[in-house]
Amino acid sequence: MASVFQKNSLKRVVFLASGRGSNFEAVAKKIRGKKLSCLPVGLVSDNREAKCLQLARSFGIPSFLIDYKSFDNKKDFHNALLDKVDSLEPDLIVTAGFMRLLSPEFVRAYKQKIINIHPSLLPAFPGMNSQKQAIEYGAKFSGCTAHFIDEGVDTGPIILQSVVKIDDTTTEVELSRAILKEEHKILAQAIELFLKDQLKIEGRKVKKLQ
Ligand code: GRF
Repeated sequence: MASVFQKNSLKRVVFLASGRGSNFEAVAKKIRGKKLSCLPVGLVSDNREAKCLQLARSFGIPSFLIDYKSFDNKKDFHNALLDKVDSLEPDLIVTAGFMRLLSPEFVRAYKQKIINIHPSLLPAFPGMNSQKQAIEYGAKFSGCTAHFIDEGVDTGPIILQSVVKIDDTTTEVELSRAILKEEHKILAQAIELFLKDQLKIEGRKVKKLQ
């Protein structure tokens, strides 16, 4: 029986994820519920213990492991990752909690075709532990950013952002939870805009076409 995901004219989407996969899950639910029209051709993880691998299978989406720990060096890992992704022929790649920087070769091969979700209002608090960084800095607001990936660390053109308030008593756990809720929303929205060809990149700026 044909899977609900199989339709030829749809854009092919590959997910990269390293862990729990809640962002992937939020998007996969939208695809399954036909709120997002695309063909999810695979989820690739670098981590053999990642929950997202099992999650992908539960959605009927092929899952692939390019296990970082099984490679002797980074170059071989990055080559294998790129080969796997190439073999899936994606129109769009979504990094949803993928905890490694993509190689420059990867980013160049899929220029303006990789969307990432980051748990801060970029350019503030790039890199790891952004929620902790925001609290320790004393920021009154943080949030999340859906952006295209370029060759820098969390520096690519911004598609959407959502703001979350920080009070004096807000803990890192509370902030992470509140931000995650917003991540799930704006990641799906950014993907939808891309799938509908409604995004135009002009330098650093991403414009929304009507
Ligand atoms: C999210 O906060 C994402 O922004 C960050 O890592 C976390 C991954 O969460 N890059 P999940 O695996 O999608 O649940």
